[in-house]
Amino acid sequence: MPMDRRPEFFKGAQLKVGIIGCGYVGLPLALRFAEAGHKVTGFDTDPAKVSQLNAGRSYIEHISQAKIQQYVISRHFSATTDFAKLKEIDAILICVPTPLDERREPDLSYVKQTAESILPNLQKGHLVVLESTTYPGTTEELVLPILESNGMRCPIASDAASDNIPCDFFLAFSPEREDPGNKQYGLAQIPKVVGGVNPPSGRAAQALYAQVVSRVIPVSSTRAAEMAKLLENIFRCVNIALVNELKLLSLRMGIDIWEVIDAASTKPFGFMPFYPGPGLGGHCIPVDPFYLSWKAREYDFATRFIELAGEINTSMPYHVVEAVATALNKQKKSLNGSKLLVLGVAYKKDVDDLRESPTLKIMQLLQGRGAHVEYNDPYFPQLHRMRHYNYEGMKSVPLSPQTLGAYDGVIVATDHSTYDYNAIVDSSKLVVDTRNATRRVARHRNRIVLC
Ligand SMILES: NC(=O)c1ccc[n+]([C@@H]2O[C@H](COP(=O)([O-])OP(=O)(O)OC[C@H]3O[C@@H](n4cnc5c(N)ncnc54)[C@H](O)[C@@H]3O)[C@@H](O)[C@H]2O)c1
Repeated sequence: MPMDRRPEFFKGAQLKVGIIGCGYVGLPLALRFAEAGHKVTGFDTDPAKVSQLNAGRSYIEHISQAKIQQYVISRHFSATTDFAKLKEIDAILICVPTPLDERREPDLSYVKQTAESILPNLQKGHLVVLESTTYPGTTEELVLPILESNGMRCPIASDAASDNIPCDFFLAFSPEREDPGNKQYGLAQIPKVVGGVNPPSGRAAQALYAQVVSRVIPVSSTRAAEMAKLLENIFRCVNIALVNELKLLSLRMGIDIWEVIDAASTKPFGFMPFYPGPGLGGHCIPVDPFYLSWKAREYDFATRFIELAGEINTSMPYHVVEAVATALNKQKKSLNGSKLLVLGVAYKKDVDDLRESPTLKIMQLLQGRGAHVEYNDPYFPQLHRMRHYNYEGMKSVPLSPQTLGAYDGVIVATDHSTYDYNAIVDSSKLVVDTRNATRRVARHRNRIVLC
């Protein structure tokens, strides 16, 4: 690899791109680079995923198997567990998980482990970009020292005088904005924020991403890019909490919050609708804000909006369970001993992702109060043991008028589009709807409880 590689090298065609972490973020990114004509290698520690990819199979519902097959056959994409192959790569993009640990503190072990596996394979002229969501400072404080520990340098600098500062390798942060299942905005249409550890690193990463996305937004540092992603997710988290709290008040006041949101949404400026639900889910919104709260403590700073939003959103599954108990009580039944069916375990509609799904918490709370709980989800034929829950052996119950009618109550936790809500209400004794999924159902409205 040339010692004097310039950032402009990454404007070139047929680059060798390595994606570390072939999950919800890494896999679409890999396919996009392959589509743009680059030679892409997916690196993952999970051998099962690697062999599925090399066999042209997709393990993520909304990611096209045909595309994987096409690029495997054309040799634009392959996957491996062998990190020594990083030596042959030009640009390495890190898309590994950044969860919270048991104490709800950032778990950067995946990022650290990844940087350590790049280190022995790092070459002069390599471009390394961290895409995993994290607190401001991670790229400079965690990744950079590991990558520099064998003597190669990528100096931190942001002033104009550093425009051509010598770098052995380039390092940047560029947050992923993937919205799984969103048919309107795919990766290519979503602008990408890019910040380098120094100006050459920023230029190198901009040159690379400009080949695969419609617009690249350069920022002055990796910290600004890291903070931009957190601002986006905190904005969602806080607004969802606000609307959840207003839903609780509206329920008490006898006002339909969904009607209110529809009405407010007609304002052509200064308003953006957010919708209430049974609680936050997914890998990002319930997790990422706490990366910033944790980092803020180092600066003696309390992130009060984040904490308050977390408190409200965390309480929502408890609210759903209370609503179920109250609805059963009206029918002279108790939660204890009742037979309940929960619809939708995915964290949001039409996705096969149940990470942090509030449904899992709702089911646990219902079981804790003595209910006999079953579930249906077209995306999850069966459940398994997870970090916080054990639903080993639970299978999705097929929906039919007979099965629906056999339950004391049906809880719409996730509003998958494939559900026939008219048929569900027709056959159920009680429907507790956490998403207003039954808004168009005209018959038997007295069986529906919005919560
Ligand atoms: N899922 C989303 O919608 C989304 C959106 C924007 C940003 N993000 C962020 O992107 C990052 C990745 O999220 P994801 O949803 O793709 O996670 P994921 O769990 O779907 O995928 C991560 C992949 O990394 C692999 N992996 C774990 N440790 C590894 C290691 N040391 N080396 C190589 N591979 C390793 C796993 O086997 C898995 O295939 C996270 O920081 C997340 O916050 C996710």
